[in-house]
Amino acid sequence: MRCASRSRRAVSSPQVINPSRGLQGSIRVPSDKSVSHRALMLSAVAEGQTRIHALLAAGDCLSTRDALMQMGVRMDTLGQTEDRLDVLVHGVGLHGLREPQGALNAGNSGTTLRLMLGLLAGCPWQARILGDESLSRRPMDRVALPLRQMGASVAGQGDRCTPPLQVRGTDTVKAIAYQSPVASAQVKSCVLLAGLFAKGTTSVELPRPARDHTERMLEHFGVPVEVDGLRCSVSGPARLRAKDLVVPGDLSSAMFFLVAGSLVPGSQLVLEEVGLNPTRRAGLDILERMGADLQISFTGAKTGEPVGRIEIKTHALQGVEVGPDEVAVAIDELPILMVAATQAEGLSCFRGAGELRVKETDRIASMTEGLRRMGAKIEVRGEDIRVQGPVLLQGASVESFGDHRTAMSLAVAGLVAKGKTQIQNPACVSISYPAFFNTLSFLSPV
Ligand code: S3P
Repeated sequence: MRCASRSRRAVSSPQVINPSRGLQGSIRVPSDKSVSHRALMLSAVAEGQTRIHALLAAGDCLSTRDALMQMGVRMDTLGQTEDRLDVLVHGVGLHGLREPQGALNAGNSGTTLRLMLGLLAGCPWQARILGDESLSRRPMDRVALPLRQMGASVAGQGDRCTPPLQVRGTDTVKAIAYQSPVASAQVKSCVLLAGLFAKGTTSVELPRPARDHTERMLEHFGVPVEVDGLRCSVSGPARLRAKDLVVPGDLSSAMFFLVAGSLVPGSQLVLEEVGLNPTRRAGLDILERMGADLQISFTGAKTGEPVGRIEIKTHALQGVEVGPDEVAVAIDELPILMVAATQAEGLSCFRGAGELRVKETDRIASMTEGLRRMGAKIEVRGEDIRVQGPVLLQGASVESFGDHRTAMSLAVAGLVAKGKTQIQNPACVSISYPAFFNTLSFLSPV
């Protein structure tokens, strides 16, 4: 399976979304994208073999896998379904990555690029790392800055250090105490990964909470992480011990169906084995606050990540107020929550959502344009988004801008619109949810 975004992404024919008469059924959403990236990277630099069960087989994670293989990591595919892989990773140890022949290609994936830079900081050779058109517009200065302080050389394009990047790591990584101006799990993870190579304690502090999968998975591989409020630290040089792991379902992917299930009259859905990590569930909590009829039951833990079953039934929603702290931890869910807000009674306000502008596309612009074409009432003031509901949306032709979450969010809007909606360039869903449209038609037959 190849990532649609590795070279120039092919333009796909539009996806037609018909109004739905109700979503019914039980599914397991694809595996967690964030956990899958970390599983691949950490098992690659662990000592010994790790079997990863239910790795997400979607564009972004395949970019990570391929880049690691290009640096000499052997990965055997033990099994494969439409969107899951069982992989045996032959770990090379922290200092075992080899200088790649040719450039590494992160495709559409910011997580691949930013986290991989953390590992490359400890490799005393030169690498070139690039991405697709979208990734080539995204700022890498947020990770270049701390990595330079740690002794690596990172050069990119322009002030924001956009890809392609030229990186030269070092065998004398310096431990630092870094205060990040952005509340980004990718920055935190990048610094922690580079810190594994350094002698002494490396710490990173964020201005607001962010997802903690890296910390949990480092512990899984036997590396203690000290967490003190918004600061976390690792002590190096570290050694990771291989240990099998299982990837839970992705709550960010589940959110499309949780919102669809809330909005479309006559719906009742069950989502199984969804990751319920507390640093990921803000979107779920916001939806619950809007009045969604959710039943959540914890069913256990997978590799340090709590997992559960979520049942949802149609229910009227109310407008919601979401401040910057919550916005930071629900950042990937904001596009679909904007769709929910168009159908909720009253005003919804998402404050401090500026980070949405530097995702796979400018998601404030992409969602505002698509939803306005469908008749939604949205106002953007600086970093704040205000959505007035409820509005009867009208089917329209809307653009994904090559962004998976914009495509899936607008598709959910199409389920409650009057008339047909056409999503232009829908193939980008393969970045995180290759079977999204098939699953949608399975749950909501025409
Ligand atoms: C991710 C962190 C988030 C998120 C992205 C995945 C991760 O980005 O938007 O989809 O896996 O660490 P930031 O850390 O830049 O906010």
